[in-house]
Amino acid sequence: MLKGLLFDLDGVIADTARFHLAAWNQVATQLGITLPPAANDALRGRSRESSLALVLSYGDPHAVYTDAQKADLAAQKNAWYLQAIDALTPADILPGITRLLADAQAAGLHLAIASASKNAPAILTKLGLAAAFETRVDPATLHRGKPDPEIYQRAQAQLGLTAQEVVGFEDASAGVAAIKAAGQFAVGIGDATTLAAADFIVPNTAALDLAAITAAHAAKEGD
Ligand code: BG6
Ligand code: MG
Repeated sequence: MLKGLLFDLDGVIADTARFHLAAWNQVATQLGITLPPAANDALRGRSRESSLALVLSYGDPHAVYTDAQKADLAAQKNAWYLQAIDALTPADILPGITRLLADAQAAGLHLAIASASKNAPAILTKLGLAAAFETRVDPATLHRGKPDPEIYQRAQAQLGLTAQEVVGFEDASAGVAAIKAAGQFAVGIGDATTLAAADFIVPNTAALDLAAITAAHAAKEGD
């Protein structure tokens, strides 16, 4: 039986994934690197350090960056990102999310945040959602990032639930892979081909419907 919902943040609760991508594009441009269209999905869900490694991998394979240079690039990206999210308000909560959270609370479901972002607490506060979730996984405590299941396993454990009792929401293929590797039910939000591994796919957050998701989860889990 469905008892809990586990949410990615960037690209699910708010449209902040585009700010991450824009900031990485600024870093790439500065280094003479052009990010390919595939980077739009590939950069979602991955930690800051892992994202930087991916950005650099699109450049000169012989280029060598010291740890200090990498730290500077990651800090520069984060400074640009922080500028972009500074003006976020509750109006930036993606369509359908406020209704979904209200329906979930009315149904007595437990809610958790499973975001790789160290900026998640600040964003939730700006969106007026600081108290909307029972728990949040602290990404600084993780050993492995998405697509590893660790963050979704931790979110589920922090709610005291089993894999069969939760549904995870993701806009990234790495995130859907993490949910599936945790043995949980995955809702993919976005392109059906990119997110094909999800159990249930909607084109955007406005199409999220708790009744439909609950029915699909029950059909799969046999309850
Ligand atoms: C994820 C984003 O939620 O957080 C990634 O999808 C980002 O794009 C990651 O790299 C880490 O975010 P931050 O804010 O800690 O750099
Ligand atoms: Mg995301």
